[in-house]
Amino acid sequence: MKILVTGGLGFIGSHTVVELQNKGYQVVVIDNLSNSTIKVLDGIEEISGKKPDFFDIDLRDKSLVSNLFSQNLDINGVIHFAASKAVGESVQNPLLYYENNLNTLVYLLQNMQNKERSNFIFSSSCTVYGQAEVMPIVENAPVQVAMSPYGNTKQIGEEIIIDTSKVTNINTILLRYFNPIGAHPSAKIGELPIGVPQNLVPFITQTAAGIREQLSVYGADYPTADGTCIRDYIHVVDLAKAHVVALERLMNEQNIDKVEIFNVGTGQGSSVLEVIKTFEEVSQTKLNYKIVARREGDVVEAYANTDKVNTVLGWKAESNLKQALESAWLWEQKIRS
Ligand code: UD1
Repeated sequence: MKILVTGGLGFIGSHTVVELQNKGYQVVVIDNLSNSTIKVLDGIEEISGKKPDFFDIDLRDKSLVSNLFSQNLDINGVIHFAASKAVGESVQNPLLYYENNLNTLVYLLQNMQNKERSNFIFSSSCTVYGQAEVMPIVENAPVQVAMSPYGNTKQIGEEIIIDTSKVTNINTILLRYFNPIGAHPSAKIGELPIGVPQNLVPFITQTAAGIREQLSVYGADYPTADGTCIRDYIHVVDLAKAHVVALERLMNEQNIDKVEIFNVGTGQGSSVLEVIKTFEEVSQTKLNYKIVARREGDVVEAYANTDKVNTVLGWKAESNLKQALESAWLWEQKIRS
C-alpha cells in the first residue's frame, strides 16, 4: 500500500510518516522545505529504519503535481498536510495563504478525481468553530466567520472538498485538530519553529532553554477559573495515529459518507497557567513568565467533544498533557545540545 504524504517533513507530517511506516505502508513524501529541513528525513529513518521516497516539489506547480500522480499510479491514499499555518503572517499576506493552501488543494483533487476511488485525509482545524457557544465542541457545532485568512483557508478548503466529493469518487476525512504539541519520544523528530515561535508550547520550551527571555501570557482576565485561555493540547504522536486510523477507514471503505468530519483532541481543556505549571513540574525548572494584555483573535476556550472520534473512528488520545510536555522538553534539549 502506497501513501502520498504532502508536507511530510513538517511537524505533524513527519510523525504521521513514522506511524504509517510502523504499520507497513510505503510512504511517498513531498515537501518544498519551506518550513522544514531535509534532516527530518534522517530522523524519520532513524526511528523507523526506512527512508521514505522523497520529492522536493512545490504543490503550486500544477504540472509537477500531475507528473507525480502519473508516475505513481498505485497511490492508495493521500494525506495532505502541506500548507502555511501562521495566523499573523496570513493577515499580512493573505494571497500567499490563499494560493498556498487552496490552489494546491485544487491541484491535488484534480489529480485524484481521475481515479476509480481516491482516499483523502485533510488537515483542518478547530479554528473553524471560532468561539463555540457550547463546550466541549461537537463536530456539528456551527462554523463561524473566520478570524484570519489562515482560518478562512481551512473553511474554504473543507467547502472545496465537500463540493468536489458530490461529483467525484474522492472519499475524504476532515480532521479538525485542536492544539498539537510535543514530539516523538525518541526525540529524533519534533517541532522546528522558524524564528520566534507563535504557539505556546515551543515558546515555553525555548524560554526554559534560555533562548527567549520571558514568556508573555496573553491575558489573565478571561472568564475562566484562573483567567487564562483554555485549549485542548494533544500529543502529536496521538494525532499522527489518528491519521492512520482515518485513512484505514477510507481504504477499507468503511466510511458512511463521502466526507466525514472528526475532532481530534483529548477532550480535556487546560488553561495557559496549567500548562506552565505542568511544564515546570516536568522540567524541574522555573519558567520566567509575565501576564500581559490579551492577544487579538484569541478565543476564550476550545476543547473537543471526542465521542464521535472515539466511537466511530475508534481512536482515543493515549497521552496526557504531562507526557506531551515531557516529550516537547526532551526534544528542545536535544536540538540545543
Ligand atoms: C492557533 C490558531 C489555530 C492554529 C494554531 C497552530 C487561532 C484562533 N488559532 O491556535 O487555528 O491551528 O495556532 O498554528 O487562530 N499563548 C500565550 N503566550 C504565547 C503564545 C500563546 O499566552 O506566547 C496563549 C494563547 O493566548 C492561547 C494559548 O496560549 O490562549 C495557545 O496559543 P497557540 O499555541 O498560539 O494556539 P492557538 O491560538 O490556540
